[in-house]
Amino acid sequence: MNPTTSQYTAPARIEYLKVRNFRALREVEFKELTPLTVLLGPNGSGKSTVFDVFAFLSECFESGLRRAWDQRGRAKELRTRGNIDPVVIELKYREQPGTRLITYHLAIDEDRNRPVVMEEWLQWRRGQHGRPFRFLDYREGQGRAVGGEQPDDELDMNNQGTIQWDPRNEVPLQSPDLLAVNALGQLADHPRVAALRDFITGWHVSYLSADSARGQPEAGPQERLSKSGDNLANVIQHLAEQHPDQLNHIFEVLRQRVPRIERVLSEVMPDGRLLLQIKDAPFNNPVLARFASDGTLKILAYLVLLYDPEPPPFIGIEEPENFLHPRLLPELAEECRAACEGTQLLATTHSPFFLNALRPKEVRVLWRDAEGYTQTRRVADIPGIPEFVEEGAYLGHLWMEGYFNLGDPLDRHGEPTPPLEGRG
Ligand SMILES: Nc1ncnc2c1ncn2[C@@H]1O[C@H](COP(=O)(O)OP(=O)(O)OP(=O)(O)O)[C@@H](O)[C@H]1O
Ligand SMILES: [Mg+2]
Repeated sequence: MNPTTSQYTAPARIEYLKVRNFRALREVEFKELTPLTVLLGPNGSGKSTVFDVFAFLSECFESGLRRAWDQRGRAKELRTRGNIDPVVIELKYREQPGTRLITYHLAIDEDRNRPVVMEEWLQWRRGQHGRPFRFLDYREGQGRAVGGEQPDDELDMNNQGTIQWDPRNEVPLQSPDLLAVNALGQLADHPRVAALRDFITGWHVSYLSADSARGQPEAGPQERLSKSGDNLANVIQHLAEQHPDQLNHIFEVLRQRVPRIERVLSEVMPDGRLLLQIKDAPFNNPVLARFASDGTLKILAYLVLLYDPEPPPFIGIEEPENFLHPRLLPELAEECRAACEGTQLLATTHSPFFLNALRPKEVRVLWRDAEGYTQTRRVADIPGIPEFVEEGAYLGHLWMEGYFNLGDPLDRHGEPTPPLEGRG
């Protein structure tokens, strides 16, 4: 493990994602993922679908594959139209900077309305040019996994370099719709598998809505904002008790963004519920969150998420521009990037103002080809764009002025001009 100077250890990082047959994502690859990644593209181009790939994986680990599968309408709705192949998700990630790149591969099919894990494996390479080694390998509930900090060393010691599996490594799962990583990741002697399980179960793929923040949840501090943000009052209670300086900093930023606001209070009511109140500087009495503005609650929720003293290892944010004044968006984008010191962040956007603060490597444009399948291209790979940015141009301006030559809904359905060779 690498020593770090920050208060937390560096988070795991996803460097690559491949998806097959997941709705419009017939075959999509994202290479060289940056800690902050932003997806652009016409309506219906597949941005939320990429987002949902992460939500799907995280739900598989939280409530099981079957439920995540059923909730998405099973193979009938989930599989790319006109296709009969399994849904495939493949991630490459590093647990820490400088550690080995690990590939997690998952292929899911369906048998009599039930999802079946056709393939699930974890692999890394022995040395930079070494052969790939699968230390976990399952098919339809049957398979094997090697434990230990360095799984291949465990086998090497016994066999002087030739891999010979021990029958003790074969641990069948109770049913073919279970994920081996989720099951074995709970065992102390599989630290690599456990690290992946912890990583995925920690993801925060949010659908923050201002309305959810308006409720009155039961009192009790909570460390982590829920996906809908309906426990905002509880998280503020937690910050007030455990991290008052951090909370004051959040209020300071909030004051800079929302004119006339002073701070936010989270008070326990006699009936045991929490009441979130917004204190405007000019008035003595605070206003109930119920009557606070949409944007105020949205900004507050983002700040709580981005300034989390112990952030989740992965955060997804859909269209952060909704409800916010456009002048606030470049700063929000910068804040997202800053938060990436302790997390990885995926956002979707339609806002040139948000885009203005981003770099070509951080942005991917999506569009759908004539067959209806999502295609994607990194803005850094669009000819001319990195050069313009180098000279001081802003991505949002270049985008609006048509320099991207792709992803414009009113021009060739978003397809590139002239058509690019091949896909990807
Ligand atoms: N099983 C499927 N096979 C093929 N395409 C599908 C399937 N299910 C959904 N789609 C299509 O995938 C498209 C992608 O939708 P998605 O919500 O990801 O778009 P988006 O980029 O987030 O758009 P917006 O900007 O409007 O939010 C939808 O238009 C939908 O018709
Ligand atoms: Mg969408």
